[in-house]
Amino acid sequence: MSTTFILSSFEIDEIEKQKKYYENYRAIIIEALKIVQKKRGWVPDSAIVEIAKILNISSSDIESVATFYSQIYRQPVGRNIIRYCDSVVCYLMGYQKIKKVLENHLSIKKGDTTLDKRFTLLPVCCLGNCDKSPTIMINEDLYSKLTPESTINLLESYK
Ligand code: FES
Repeated sequence: MSTTFILSSFEIDEIEKQKKYYENYRAIIIEALKIVQKKRGWVPDSAIVEIAKILNISSSDIESVATFYSQIYRQPVGRNIIRYCDSVVCYLMGYQKIKKVLENHLSIKKGDTTLDKRFTLLPVCCLGNCDKSPTIMINEDLYSKLTPESTINLLESYK
């Protein structure tokens, strides 16, 4: 049985507020997605439809923006988001070893969330920390010059 999805009045108010600042509502799409994600931790399909109605933009346009931005999660994620850089400098500096350690230690592959919902593992383009690669981010924290050992130790500090 499917249930009807409803944005909260807080979410609707926050999105409506943004409409006062922009003539072209396309400029609000990311902010609207962030408003929903902040409240729920991710953006369900049904929220895309609701945002589309509020902004009078097609759901497919909202969806394409949501899909393009890696910071918008289209499925439930863990309490901690690990983003490992797989761009060229990190590649040359051996990000593959870090990725393998993460996957083995957490028993997940990229895009997955651990069973205990502690971590989600996502690839990301350059984190702007190339001179200190290999690099990962956990939530808002950036970590540099990682080794397999330091990576495992790092995970222990996130519950
Ligand atoms: S290539 Fe990895 S941080 Fe830039």
